[in-house]
Amino acid sequence: SMLEAAHEHDIELEGKDDSISSGACEGSLACSTCHVIVMDVDYYNKLEDPTDEENDMLDLAFGLTETSRLGCQVI
Ligand code: FES
Repeated sequence: SMLEAAHEHDIELEGKDDSISSGACEGSLACSTCHVIVMDVDYYNKLEDPTDEENDMLDLAFGLTETSRLGCQVI
């Protein structure tokens, strides 16, 4: 999954502390706890474009960046 692959691709996860759970809504696009910032632009550009639903939820994410995604929506 994205969460497992994150380290390999220099992706910074918002909740580094294990007590902050990532993926609170289990991938149903109802939270933004799985917000990830893709540090590698080449990798970001290889990803499928976010859906409108993902973008709406990303707007609510803390610290949104140009290369932010929701981890649960990225394979
Ligand atoms: Fe809730 Fe991704 S786990 S939006």
